[in-house]
Amino acid sequence: MLASERCCDTHSFAVWYISPPLSHGNWDCAMATIYVTDRDGTEHQIDGTVGQSLMEALRELDYGVEALCGGMCSCATCHVFIESEWYTGLTPPQDDELELLEETESYQVSHSRLSCQVEFAAALAGIRLTIAPEE
Ligand code: FES
Repeated sequence: MLASERCCDTHSFAVWYISPPLSHGNWDCAMATIYVTDRDGTEHQIDGTVGQSLMEALRELDYGVEALCGGMCSCATCHVFIESEWYTGLTPPQDDELELLEETESYQVSHSRLSCQVEFAAALAGIRLTIAPEE
């Protein structure tokens, strides 16, 4: 299968030889949909790549995150609110991430994460998140 072929309605495009792939039916794919609500309240549908952080998908967008430190867990400009359904399945934040989040004015227990600290995985296909306000 070519990298540009659509594999299904859930996952956007299939790419072979990226590990670990998303598996369903006869297809393997390594990219899947992320639903992003921007700071204006508009929802967008973007592609996330398995094995990359959520931040890497979000920082390419005009309405995405700034990610000033480049994913070093030191700026909090990649702050997002993750819907409960998805938040509970994530690996809990490390102490340094939690300390940084708690310093933000918009911190929300059980929703706030630094998108640079969340690796996109097959189980997160269809995740819904909101970009936190700029601080
Ligand atoms: S990009 Fe700076 S903390 Fe995530």
